[in-house]
Amino acid sequence: MASMLKVWSVEKSWELYDRAVEVIPMATQTHSKAPRESLRGVEPCYLVQGEGCRVWDLDGNEYIDFRNALGPVTLGYRFPAVDEAIRRQLESGILFSYPHPLEVEVAERLVKLIPCAERVRFLKTGGEAMAATHRLARAFTGRDLILTCGYHGWVNTTSRPGVPEPIRSTYRALPWGDATPYAEAFKAFPKQIAAVSVACSYADIEKGHTFLADLRELTERHGALLIFDEIVTGFRLRRGGAQEYFGVTPDLAVFAKGISNGVPLSCYVGRAEVMDKVEEVVISSTFGGDTLGLAAAKATLDVYENEDVIGALWARGRQLHEVFNSHCRRLGIPASFQGLPPAGQPVFEHPDSVRNNELFLRFNGEVLKRGVIIYTVCYPNYSHTEADVAEAVAAMGEALEAMKEEGMFD
Ligand SMILES: Cc1ncc(COP(=O)(O)O)c(C=O)c1O
Repeated sequence: MASMLKVWSVEKSWELYDRAVEVIPMATQTHSKAPRESLRGVEPCYLVQGEGCRVWDLDGNEYIDFRNALGPVTLGYRFPAVDEAIRRQLESGILFSYPHPLEVEVAERLVKLIPCAERVRFLKTGGEAMAATHRLARAFTGRDLILTCGYHGWVNTTSRPGVPEPIRSTYRALPWGDATPYAEAFKAFPKQIAAVSVACSYADIEKGHTFLADLRELTERHGALLIFDEIVTGFRLRRGGAQEYFGVTPDLAVFAKGISNGVPLSCYVGRAEVMDKVEEVVISSTFGGDTLGLAAAKATLDVYENEDVIGALWARGRQLHEVFNSHCRRLGIPASFQGLPPAGQPVFEHPDSVRNNELFLRFNGEVLKRGVIIYTVCYPNYSHTEADVAEAVAAMGEALEAMKEEGMFD
């Protein structure tokens, strides 16, 4: 079979990158999108066009994309029904001096779809919506401490420089999977914990069946709230996210990436008596009710309702995982896709984790050269066809073969 290796130049991308670092720290607004120096000459720093599951870079190279803008493009790039809804809304106006009816329409739809949602409020980014839930939980319980699990956005990341100690001390980050450390924290800080705030871990997400149920029981017993960060899991595992998939209903939750096919929109939702505290707490944003995000959300929700988007995300993800894993078995390479098909992680299983990171980086480079973009989590979208996934996973198999031939797995 002919090699899938492409004749490669990403020269224009790297020229622009070299200009960008003079004016933009890290040359990006999103840390995970920062081009990697070790992939200089291979990684496309700039993408300029998308269509379905494919994207084109500044130099004109074409890729099948499993990054999906880090998750939000659940239906596909330039999805006609969503783009048409945005264009139509643009004819009437983007932002107004009073609320727009779309706020009510979309909120009513979300209340029907999301198990914990009795009330809904809109913001623009996932992290600020998570911060809103933390503020509400503190106001509602009169307690300060939040136990966190996983990444909730930069505003809620207190382990980095720039956060005063009194604020840092109101958060405790604990691991995914076992409720024991959470039970110990409740014992150590009686009546001080306002909420447990949890984002699912992807590779071992199935632990959620017991872990999330245990957290629900624990928080109820101690008068604390349970908050789910559904920024990745919402409209991906199920429309109603991890709470629908695992059958555990939290008090509050945040949905963002999947709800508007890439137009910035987030929402925090939950129990009426907690959400109604918003007036007293004052959580308010000029851009919270912009109509383009809401028009995109309404159109996206229509597609999810009328077509089996969730079924397709699972089917395409399953295909990706199964064929990738069969390449690994055939080549005797210690690697596999782990986690659930709509949000799985390709994991190298060398005993040395530093080596695994090197292998993953190199694998990124080898698949890029064969026209495939991957990420730590690989996200199928509704526009990936069976043929697209077959093409991409064949390129992954060839990339693994090239790495094996070079002795990278010896
Ligand atoms: C689980 C999770 N929570 C929160 C966030 C932060 O969302 P945003 O970048 O929109 O603030 C992310 C972003 O990747 C995420 O994956």
